[in-house]
Amino acid sequence: MSQNVLIWDLPTRLFHWLLVAGITTQWLTAEYLDNAIDWHFTIGYCLLGLIAFRLVWGLLGTHYARFSNYPLHPIKGIHYSKQLLRKDSEVYAGHNPIGSWAVIAMLLIIALQAISGLFVTDDIFSEGPYYSVVSAEVKDVMAFIHFNFFDVLLWIIGLHIAAALFYQFYKRQTIITAMFSGKKETDAQGITQQKLWLALVIAIAVAAMTYWLVIVLPPEPEFYY
Ligand code: HEM
Ligand code: HEM
Repeated sequence: MSQNVLIWDLPTRLFHWLLVAGITTQWLTAEYLDNAIDWHFTIGYCLLGLIAFRLVWGLLGTHYARFSNYPLHPIKGIHYSKQLLRKDSEVYAGHNPIGSWAVIAMLLIIALQAISGLFVTDDIFSEGPYYSVVSAEVKDVMAFIHFNFFDVLLWIIGLHIAAALFYQFYKRQTIITAMFSGKKETDAQGITQQKLWLALVIAIAVAAMTYWLVIVLPPEPEFYY
């Protein structure tokens, strides 16, 4: 008998909505707002920390947040893709097989975007903290990643949002509301504790490491006027 149980712990939900806010801001500060590069840097550092947090949470977090519990096996993916558009497709308590791959792709591209940002310049006054210490080849690769991968990310995000709306309103699986409340109607077992203390310790450690990496460790910036 299905029950309304807790699937997404608070740290995972906070992660998701902070990620949405951060990516939206990065898009606006890079492409639409003038003189916003300082904000682009600061929020880029926050996103770097946020993704690092999620990677550790994917190893140590609660059941459905852990990557090892994602249904990533190709056979599951093929089986699920055949029923993808059906209203009565199999219900997964956590991410479904296709969604799991989409999540991994988004996390990976955002991580690459945040890391490559540390090595690029706007060709005016601002450069990422490690721009001056790497070779021309590394600069080129990083610029290629930073200025091209975001378009791929936008496509995946578009599909992701369309899929979420499709599930919520056509299939009537309450997945969007579950990203707010954490709870889903399912036969599966919910999580019983959210490991909030562990999440706090990881968040503090990750924040300290990110600060050290982007503020303390880099060389003094050189400017040529
Ligand atoms: C910048 C935009 C967005 C990005 C980068 C993004 C990224 C992600 C990621 C990485 C996850 C996995 C969460 C985790 O397990 O840690 C996720 C899940 C989810 N997102 Fe988003 N998201 C975005 C926007 C949205 C929006 C606008 C909605 C609502 C309409 C939404 C609805 C969901 C839902 C429902 C899930 C859970 C999917 C499931 O039950 O399998 N996302 N998203
Ligand atoms: C997840 C984090 C990030 C995202 C999603 C992101 C996204 C973007 C996008 C979409 C652009 C515009 C690309 C284009 O013009 O084709 C851009 C430009 C840029 N980004 Fe990022 N970025 C992130 C992090 C960073 C970080 C951490 C830094 C540096 C510390 C950085 C530095 C720059 C610079 C210098 C530019 C060039 C701006 C210009 O030419 O006006 N980014 N970024």
